[in-house]
Amino acid sequence: ENKKVIFSGMQPSGSLTLGNYLGALKNWVKLQSEYDCYYCVVDMHAITVPKEPKDLRKNTFEVLANYIAAGLDPEQVTLFIQSHVSAHAELAWILNCFAYYGELGRMTQFKDKSKKLDNNAITAGLFTYPTLMVADILLYQADLVPVGEDQRQHLELTRDVAARFNNRFSETFKIPEPFISKEGAKIMSLQEPQSKMSKSDSNDNSYILLMDDADTIRRKLKRAVTDSEGVVRYNENQLGVKNLINIYSKITNKTTDEIVSSYDGKGYAEFKNDVAEIIIEELRPIQEKIDYLLKNKDYLEKIYIMGAEKAENKARKTLRKVQKKVGF
Ligand code: ADP
Ligand code: NA
Repeated sequence: ENKKVIFSGMQPSGSLTLGNYLGALKNWVKLQSEYDCYYCVVDMHAITVPKEPKDLRKNTFEVLANYIAAGLDPEQVTLFIQSHVSAHAELAWILNCFAYYGELGRMTQFKDKSKKLDNNAITAGLFTYPTLMVADILLYQADLVPVGEDQRQHLELTRDVAARFNNRFSETFKIPEPFISKEGAKIMSLQEPQSKMSKSDSNDNSYILLMDDADTIRRKLKRAVTDSEGVVRYNENQLGVKNLINIYSKITNKTTDEIVSSYDGKGYAEFKNDVAEIIIEELRPIQEKIDYLLKNKDYLEKIYIMGAEKAENKARKTLRKVQKKVGF
């Protein structure tokens, strides 16, 4: 098979949000037939900040179930859990010795996350998180990595480290290209529409989870922050409304102009109510599948065991090459 290779993953730091779904997962589903896709649940990344073991285990299963329920076909793509393929840890160690302290210190995600923590709560793992991500991608000789804008710098690091290793030894790693989704693909927090919707947000009114029931979605939409203009318009001064229009548009494929004109003369209450119902309808079939999958743990287990085998095969080949080159 000569299909181009895609690698991407999500952290089981919680259950997936509407942002993860509209910004990434929906796109992954579209790519699955055209590319050779490796989609991972990156549980090793999730422990860079403290996690309760039982929560991590639960979230890992949920994310896998979310992947499948959203339309990823486990026969067509390789779905696996990062910690099941030990080559990730092994390559990450080697690459830690090819990434520089200064380079990692410049990563804005590290700077943002570490700023929010006490000095003695910043783990070495949080600092070297990007080299684990570099390993994730390079192990599969990925051509393309579909990620959000927030991951661009980590992708640049991946390219730099890969090129450095190839230069020092000989052609070993494919240099991956970022595959970054366009503006408008970024779904913002319902409470602080200037920052992105994230499952690691401490305010649960700020995000919609794929698993939220209808009443929770209605309640969160009612509470969504808007403004005092009272007119549904698409602009930078009405970020809350703009975000809701983006969500509406991503789900229905209507243009933002079409949406704005259909609310001419109508207030926020009606608009928010419609957005809630559109989300509920979009998520209904996915939620039915998630429920089914989480009740069929045996099936999920089969999927991730099969996925780990396929991933292991590919990853080991790369790791062996690397080990030889460094002198192991
Ligand atoms: P989170 O911030 O929810 O923990 P991750 O860091 O695990 O998300 O990101 C998983 C994927 O989902 C990445 O490709 C990321 O770019 C995308 N993503 C995360 N949040 C959003 C969002 N609010 N809008 C669009 N895409 C997002
Ligand atoms: Na994150």
